[in-house]
Amino acid sequence: MAYTLPPLPYPYDALEPYIDTKTMEVHHDKHHQAYVDNANAGLEGTALADAPVEEVLTRLAELPDGVRAKVKNNAGGHYNHTLFWETMAPGGGGEPDGALASAIASAFGSFEDFKGKVKAAGIGQFGSGWAWLVHDGTGLAVVSTPNQDAPISDSKTPLLGVDVWEHAYYLQYQNRRPDYLDAWWNTVSWAKVAERFSAC
Ligand SMILES: [Fe+2]
Repeated sequence: MAYTLPPLPYPYDALEPYIDTKTMEVHHDKHHQAYVDNANAGLEGTALADAPVEEVLTRLAELPDGVRAKVKNNAGGHYNHTLFWETMAPGGGGEPDGALASAIASAFGSFEDFKGKVKAAGIGQFGSGWAWLVHDGTGLAVVSTPNQDAPISDSKTPLLGVDVWEHAYYLQYQNRRPDYLDAWWNTVSWAKVAERFSAC
Protein backbone atom coordinates (compact mmCIF):
# COMPACT_ATOMS: atom_id res chain seq x y z
CA MET A 1 0.00 0.00 0.00
CA ALA A 2 1.42 3.31 -1.02
CA TYR A 3 2.48 5.77 1.65
CA THR A 4 0.62 9.03 2.10
CA LEU A 5 1.76 12.33 3.55
CA PRO A 6 0.59 12.53 7.17
CA PRO A 7 -1.02 15.86 7.98
CA LEU A 8 1.09 18.20 10.07
CA PRO A 9 -0.13 17.59 13.65
CA TYR A 10 -0.53 21.34 14.33
CA PRO A 11 -1.01 24.51 12.27
CA TYR A 12 1.85 25.69 10.06
CA ASP A 13 2.37 28.76 12.22
CA ALA A 14 2.29 26.84 15.52
CA LEU A 15 6.06 26.79 15.98
CA GLU A 16 6.56 30.52 15.45
CA PRO A 17 8.79 32.32 16.25
CA TYR A 18 11.25 29.42 16.34
CA ILE A 19 10.32 27.99 12.95
CA ASP A 20 8.55 30.30 10.54
CA THR A 21 5.28 29.48 8.79
CA LYS A 22 6.71 29.52 5.26
CA THR A 23 9.44 27.05 6.17
CA MET A 24 6.86 24.70 7.68
CA GLU A 25 4.63 24.94 4.61
CA VAL A 26 7.41 24.20 2.12
CA HIS A 27 9.09 21.63 4.34
CA HIS A 28 5.95 19.61 4.98
CA ASP A 29 3.92 20.12 1.80
CA LYS A 30 6.76 20.04 -0.74
CA HIS A 31 9.80 18.27 0.72
CA HIS A 32 8.01 15.61 2.74
CA GLN A 33 5.50 15.03 -0.06
CA ALA A 34 8.37 14.46 -2.49
CA TYR A 35 9.90 11.84 -0.19
CA VAL A 36 6.55 10.07 0.00
CA ASP A 37 6.06 10.12 -3.77
CA ASN A 38 9.59 8.97 -4.54
CA ALA A 39 9.50 6.24 -1.88
CA ASN A 40 6.31 4.92 -3.47
CA ALA A 41 7.85 5.03 -6.93
CA GLY A 42 10.98 3.22 -5.74
CA LEU A 43 9.06 0.51 -3.89
CA GLU A 44 6.53 -0.15 -6.61
CA GLY A 45 6.75 -3.74 -7.82
CA THR A 46 9.26 -4.81 -5.16
CA ALA A 47 8.72 -7.41 -2.44
CA LEU A 48 8.57 -4.59 0.14
CA ALA A 49 5.90 -2.54 -1.67
CA ASP A 50 3.36 -3.28 1.05
CA ALA A 51 5.69 -3.12 4.03
CA PRO A 52 5.51 -0.45 6.71
CA VAL A 53 8.25 2.14 6.35
CA GLU A 54 10.02 1.01 9.54
CA GLU A 55 10.29 -2.48 8.07
CA VAL A 56 11.55 -1.21 4.71
CA LEU A 57 14.33 0.70 6.45
CA THR A 58 15.56 -2.41 8.24
CA ARG A 59 15.35 -4.61 5.12
CA LEU A 60 17.02 -2.35 2.53
CA ALA A 61 19.48 -5.11 1.63
CA GLU A 62 16.62 -7.15 0.19
CA LEU A 63 15.79 -4.53 -2.43
CA PRO A 64 17.07 -4.71 -6.01
CA ASP A 65 20.31 -2.77 -6.57
CA GLY A 66 18.60 -0.41 -8.98
CA VAL A 67 16.16 1.00 -6.42
CA ARG A 68 17.89 0.50 -3.08
CA ALA A 69 19.45 3.97 -2.88
CA LYS A 70 16.25 5.65 -4.01
CA VAL A 71 14.23 3.82 -1.37
CA LYS A 72 16.82 4.41 1.34
CA ASN A 73 16.80 8.15 0.68
CA ASN A 74 13.08 8.61 0.22
CA ALA A 75 11.58 6.08 2.63
CA GLY A 76 14.16 7.44 5.06
CA GLY A 77 12.99 10.96 4.31
CA HIS A 78 9.38 9.96 4.89
CA TYR A 79 10.16 8.18 8.16
CA ASN A 80 12.51 10.87 9.49
CA HIS A 81 10.13 13.73 8.74
CA THR A 82 7.12 11.97 10.25
CA LEU A 83 9.17 11.51 13.40
CA PHE A 84 10.38 15.14 13.23
CA TRP A 85 6.88 16.67 13.07
CA GLU A 86 5.82 14.56 16.04
CA THR A 87 8.93 15.50 18.02
CA MET A 88 7.78 19.11 17.97
CA ALA A 89 4.66 20.71 19.40
CA PRO A 90 3.34 24.19 20.07
CA GLY A 91 4.20 25.17 23.64
CA GLY A 92 7.14 22.77 23.58
CA GLY A 93 10.52 23.25 25.16
CA GLY A 94 11.57 23.16 28.76
CA GLU A 95 13.20 20.04 30.09
CA PRO A 96 12.32 16.37 30.33
CA ASP A 97 11.42 14.89 33.69
CA GLY A 98 11.15 11.48 35.29
CA ALA A 99 13.01 8.48 33.94
CA LEU A 100 14.03 10.25 30.74
CA ALA A 101 15.62 13.13 32.66
CA SER A 102 17.51 10.65 34.83
CA ALA A 103 18.71 8.68 31.81
CA ILE A 104 19.91 11.83 30.06
CA ALA A 105 21.76 13.03 33.16
CA SER A 106 23.30 9.62 33.61
CA ALA A 107 24.41 9.31 29.98
CA PHE A 108 25.60 12.87 29.33
CA GLY A 109 26.30 14.46 32.72
CA SER A 110 23.55 17.08 32.58
CA PHE A 111 20.74 18.32 30.38
CA GLU A 112 22.93 21.22 29.26
CA ASP A 113 25.74 18.83 28.32
CA PHE A 114 23.24 16.74 26.38
CA LYS A 115 22.00 19.78 24.45
CA GLY A 116 25.59 20.70 23.69
CA LYS A 117 26.22 17.25 22.26
CA VAL A 118 23.17 17.44 20.01
CA LYS A 119 24.19 20.90 18.83
CA ALA A 120 27.72 19.72 18.11
CA ALA A 121 26.36 16.72 16.19
CA GLY A 122 24.08 19.01 14.16
CA ILE A 123 26.80 21.52 13.39
CA GLY A 124 29.33 18.79 12.72
CA GLN A 125 27.13 17.01 10.18
CA PHE A 126 28.74 18.25 6.96
CA GLY A 127 26.12 19.02 4.35
CA SER A 128 22.65 17.60 4.87
CA GLY A 129 21.52 15.26 7.59
CA TRP A 130 20.17 14.85 11.08
CA ALA A 131 21.25 14.93 14.71
CA TRP A 132 19.61 12.35 16.98
CA LEU A 133 19.11 11.14 20.48
CA VAL A 134 18.86 7.38 20.10
CA HIS A 135 18.63 4.30 22.25
CA ASP A 136 21.22 1.93 20.84
CA GLY A 137 20.06 -1.16 22.69
CA THR A 138 22.22 -0.58 25.73
CA GLY A 139 21.65 3.09 26.50
CA LEU A 140 21.23 6.62 25.20
CA ALA A 141 23.57 8.11 22.62
CA VAL A 142 23.77 11.21 20.44
CA VAL A 143 24.58 10.50 16.81
CA SER A 144 24.27 12.18 13.44
CA THR A 145 23.33 10.69 10.10
CA PRO A 146 23.97 12.01 6.59
CA ASN A 147 21.22 12.67 4.05
CA GLN A 148 18.06 10.76 5.03
CA ASP A 149 19.80 7.82 6.64
CA ALA A 150 17.59 6.64 9.49
CA PRO A 151 18.89 5.35 12.84
CA ILE A 152 16.60 2.31 12.67
CA SER A 153 18.56 1.08 9.63
CA ASP A 154 21.49 0.87 12.06
CA SER A 155 19.49 -0.90 14.80
CA LYS A 156 19.10 2.30 16.84
CA THR A 157 15.76 3.60 18.09
CA PRO A 158 15.38 7.35 17.50
CA LEU A 159 13.92 9.25 20.45
CA LEU A 160 14.50 12.78 19.15
CA GLY A 161 15.76 14.05 15.82
CA VAL A 162 16.53 17.47 14.48
CA ASP A 163 16.65 18.08 10.74
CA VAL A 164 19.77 20.01 9.74
CA TRP A 165 19.12 20.10 6.01
CA GLU A 166 19.20 23.71 4.83
CA HIS A 167 15.55 23.35 3.80
CA ALA A 168 14.71 23.09 7.50
CA TYR A 169 16.04 26.52 8.43
CA TYR A 170 17.45 28.55 5.54
CA LEU A 171 14.47 30.87 4.93
CA GLN A 172 14.61 32.12 8.51
CA TYR A 173 18.17 31.52 9.65
CA GLN A 174 20.11 31.50 6.35
CA ASN A 175 23.57 30.09 7.08
CA ARG A 176 23.15 30.26 10.87
CA ARG A 177 22.59 26.58 11.59
CA PRO A 178 23.79 27.00 15.22
CA ASP A 179 21.10 29.65 15.86
CA TYR A 180 18.43 27.36 14.43
CA LEU A 181 19.65 24.53 16.63
CA ASP A 182 19.51 26.77 19.73
CA ALA A 183 15.98 27.93 18.90
CA TRP A 184 14.78 24.44 18.03
CA TRP A 185 14.81 23.29 21.67
CA ASN A 186 11.81 25.57 22.24
CA THR A 187 9.73 23.32 19.98
CA VAL A 188 10.52 19.95 21.52
CA SER A 189 7.68 17.88 22.92
CA TRP A 190 9.38 16.13 25.82
CA ALA A 191 6.19 14.18 26.43
CA LYS A 192 6.59 12.59 23.00
CA VAL A 193 10.29 11.89 23.53
CA ALA A 194 9.51 10.32 26.92
CA GLU A 195 6.82 8.16 25.33
CA ARG A 196 9.37 6.81 22.82
CA PHE A 197 11.89 6.29 25.60
CA SER A 198 9.50 4.28 27.74
CA ALA A 199 8.66 2.08 24.75
CA CYS A 200 12.24 0.91 24.31
FE1 LIG B 1 13.67 18.11 6.06
